[in-house]
Amino acid sequence: MSSWKGIILAGGSGTRLAPLTTAISKQLLPVYDKPMIYYPLSTLIQIGIREIAIITTPDQQHLFKKLLSDGSQLGCHFEFFIQEKPTGLAEAFLITEEFIKDSPTCLVLGDNIFYGNGLIDLAKEAMSSPAGATVFGYRVNDPERYGVVEFDKENRAVSIEEKPEFPRSPYAIPGLYFYDTKVIKIAKSLTPSKRGELEITDINKTYLSEGSLRVKVIERGVAWLDAGTFESLLQAGSFIHAVQERQGLMVGSPEEAAWLNKLINNERLKELAEPHKKNAYGRYLLNLVGNKNANN
Ligand code: G1P
Repeated sequence: MSSWKGIILAGGSGTRLAPLTTAISKQLLPVYDKPMIYYPLSTLIQIGIREIAIITTPDQQHLFKKLLSDGSQLGCHFEFFIQEKPTGLAEAFLITEEFIKDSPTCLVLGDNIFYGNGLIDLAKEAMSSPAGATVFGYRVNDPERYGVVEFDKENRAVSIEEKPEFPRSPYAIPGLYFYDTKVIKIAKSLTPSKRGELEITDINKTYLSEGSLRVKVIERGVAWLDAGTFESLLQAGSFIHAVQERQGLMVGSPEEAAWLNKLINNERLKELAEPHKKNAYGRYLLNLVGNKNANN
């Protein structure tokens, strides 16, 4: 079987964040001390994915390329794709069909931020059983903003709805999805929803009706934040700030993730840190090399 590939969807019009997003993509906005896309990118690298498609709007692709390059500096491979119009998350699989080929795929949304090792373990478990699909359920106060999954008494998923007016459960489905190769065929069979989008929820419903959708509940101790509204953007920045200040460990550094996964060695990490050595980000990376756990 081919190894897992990743997709980061960083398109969208970002209307909920205008005027912040009038001139720049949401996924390039700062979340405390890093561009938003660093967080989902680090998640993919942490779970062991190195080949990553990055989907952007047409006019901002050059900015993402400037920020991320081709990935080789991190021991990864990035390919850039364009979503012409914000016509739905499921379109990601149509846009990247040639890139995915015969690999299972992990899609992460460019405004979703995950924190906690529990999530990494769940993701690795999902990747060890690639047939079918795996999504997660995360308890939230405002499920009506998300895709919502309902469970029966045996904790089996029984229904999935996109932004229901009256949610049947408090479990939202975060923007981190694992699919086998059938996903392309399913995406091709979809028709646009009432809001005119190819919905990721319709892909998940198809797997559910075929009995091949695993839904794992993310337990306490893992933080999932989305940064798609003014309020949640500020909360995400404050959360990252608080965790980093308290622990002295960074959240969402792709350089650190690549280094921890041994995709790059100490020398490369130093080279990557060098241009930033006068600020806290660069100094943090340089300090990693000095630690006793440093990679050879
Ligand atoms: C999208 C999905 C939704 C999912 C959410 C996670 O919502 O449609 O099912 O729960 O991402 O962030 P959107 O960001 O389009 O509102």
